Amino acid sequence: MENRVVIGGQWGDEGKGKIVDTLCRDLDWVLRYQGGANAGHTIHIGADKHVLHLIPSGALHDGVKCLLGGGMVIDPWSLRDEILALEQKGIDVRDRIFIASTAALLMPYHKRLDELKEEQLKRKSIGTTGRGIGPAYLDKIQRTGMRMGDLQLPAENLERKVIEMILSANETLSTNYDAEPLASRVLAEELVVLAKFIAPMVVNPYEVLKGVRQGTESVLLEGAQGTLLDIDHGTYPFVTSSNSTIGGAMTGSGLPPRCFGEINGIFKAYLTRVGNGPFPTELLGEQGISLREAGGEYGATTGRARRCGWFDMVAARYAADINGLTGAIITKLDVLDDLAAIQVATAYEVEAERLPCFPVDGNILSRCRPVYQEFKGWEKPTSECRRLTDLPAAARKYLEFLEAELGTLIVGISVGKDREQMIWTDTGVTT
Ligand code: GDP
Ligand code: IMO
Ligand code: MG
Repeated sequence: MENRVVIGGQWGDEGKGKIVDTLCRDLDWVLRYQGGANAGHTIHIGADKHVLHLIPSGALHDGVKCLLGGGMVIDPWSLRDEILALEQKGIDVRDRIFIASTAALLMPYHKRLDELKEEQLKRKSIGTTGRGIGPAYLDKIQRTGMRMGDLQLPAENLERKVIEMILSANETLSTNYDAEPLASRVLAEELVVLAKFIAPMVVNPYEVLKGVRQGTESVLLEGAQGTLLDIDHGTYPFVTSSNSTIGGAMTGSGLPPRCFGEINGIFKAYLTRVGNGPFPTELLGEQGISLREAGGEYGATTGRARRCGWFDMVAARYAADINGLTGAIITKLDVLDDLAAIQVATAYEVEAERLPCFPVDGNILSRCRPVYQEFKGWEKPTSECRRLTDLPAAARKYLEFLEAELGTLIVGISVGKDREQMIWTDTGVTT
């Protein structure tokens, strides 16, 4: 069985899209298990660049079926636009896209409420992507939201239900935020039209995954965001509203753990974060700016400049443990090619006291000072390397250190944005 889970090991944008695309060529299914259009997963194939938000990153392979899992929150307007954009590029996906009827339906009022909540929080805002994620999950958890299966209702019933939902959201908009109501009839009519486009793709996820449970079909479970953005295990409250970690793969897919196979954590060779919240190894000066420029660190969803810093081993070890990783994949090694020296945080101190492990309390994390270990840079290009032995000695030393400290084999190294720019290392990087 070649099944696998791909999970972000940091604060998102680790290069999951590229890795999923690279790994899923011969698989039956790629399944996104949580999140929504807050994700931006970039895949480069030659000169073509694709950014996927809701569609799983297996979509660029003809034979791969893509399931938008029950753990997702799905904005049907965005989904339609994404499908049409791929079709315009000659990539036909409509027959290969399946949408779990149990996934939450994200409506325009969720986006509006997301914006308004952020404005209300002012300096304490999360720095969300504005895609309505928190409000949509709120509706799900408080059992008031709609699900993708509702798009299969007869038009009249759907319209009635949607109008009811919008009127109720309008009340919240006016009472809590003194905001303008949304046009209920116009939106409901739009959704009825959209439902015609989307309903044929909506399926019972339990039924379509029968082959996976029986072991006759293979699956890659694709996580969005990253471990440190997980609602339960991340740097709360500066997190997203879903479980991006291994538990989310189970609840968001409906598959039991015996179907999981390998569990791969994706880590950049350094660290980035978009939005607000503590970031102990952040580089605030020139070094941070040059890392951002070298890595092209601008959000794939919002275009925001990503905050950049050094690899944080305290947080990475935590991610390896929380997810039970069976392998790590290091991306963007090439971004460090020109540096004379590279730092890795190996411990945290709070007022000169060393912490025994990653603090799950965000208030403590914001007071942590990283203790660094310095590595010599390799100052040579790595983007043409395809085997471990092609890498400069100093780069191998850096990777060997990461592997030893993570306590997990490094099974892959990405040295450029293209599909082919990979080094695979089944037995790890330490010889
Ligand atoms: P995701 O959200 O985890 O899928 O990551 P994003 O797509 O948001 O951000 C990763 C960015 O890094 C994208 O622009 C990728 O094309 C790019 N990328 C991925 N792997 C590599 C790599 O090994 N080297 C370089 N230079 N860029 C990479
Ligand atoms: P991918 O899948 C990086 C961040 C936002 C914000 C916080 C909450 O591309 O790695 P939300 O809109 O989810 O309510 O925002 O989470 N965030 C991401 N950061 N990559 C992502 O996705 C993200 N999705 C959400 O910036 O700090
Ligand atoms: Mg991204």
